[in-house]
Amino acid sequence: MILGISGSPRPKGITAHAVKKILEDCEGETKYISLAGKHIGGCISCLGCTKDNQCKVNDDFPKIAQAMVEAEAIVFGIPNYYDVPNGLSHCLLERCFCFRHQSAFLLKDKPAIIFSTGYSADEENSQVLKIVDHFMVMNKMPVVSKFLVGAFSQCYTCKYSKDCVDGNVVKNNGIVDKITPDMLPPRFDEQPESIIKCENAAHAINATI
Ligand SMILES: Cc1cc2nc3c(=O)[nH]c(=O)nc-3n(C[C@H](O)[C@H](O)[C@H](O)COP(=O)(O)O)c2cc1C
Repeated sequence: MILGISGSPRPKGITAHAVKKILEDCEGETKYISLAGKHIGGCISCLGCTKDNQCKVNDDFPKIAQAMVEAEAIVFGIPNYYDVPNGLSHCLLERCFCFRHQSAFLLKDKPAIIFSTGYSADEENSQVLKIVDHFMVMNKMPVVSKFLVGAFSQCYTCKYSKDCVDGNVVKNNGIVDKITPDMLPPRFDEQPESIIKCENAAHAINATI
């Protein structure tokens, strides 16, 4: 089974669309998990996992952990918040501490696709990709594809943004009376480059498992 995890708190956002697109193009059984609405805190360093590599914290993580261990490969879609992974995704990655004790490394050798959504397009210098990549290294997971997918800035749906000098609407368009459709950043299905990246990522997974 190939597992796709959308780390966005928005269930129908661009991260969700891109994860689903990759899973559609993967061969064999797939499973999709959205972190939207899930309660996942950071690792509390209780060390309850050191004996059996199972997290004992009673929130939504242990069930997801089980799916991660069962998966042959994992797709991680991670929104960029302040140039770092968003909190929910970061908590999930931190909790993967439970998999590594006594040389178990339960995620070892599972191929990973990692992508980040955001309005920043600098793929080479993406801090989010670097951070998520580091978590993969710590779990001994080979990254077979790593890329950015374009996403909107919240300013485009904020009712105060037309003349907010600190926001992205004014930064990109100057002060406006109205946000018109031509100003809106592209949706996932309007991004041919991102769609191709997702297709290539799925092919990379298909070639490795
Ligand atoms: C609190 C917050 C901070 C954000 N910071 C950034 C940022 O620093 N750089 C960026 O490119 N996008 C930033 N964004 C935009 C999100 O990355 C973007 O809306 C998100 O990836 C969209 O994914 P979704 O549609 O799946 O929710 C931020 C969004 C929020 C809510």
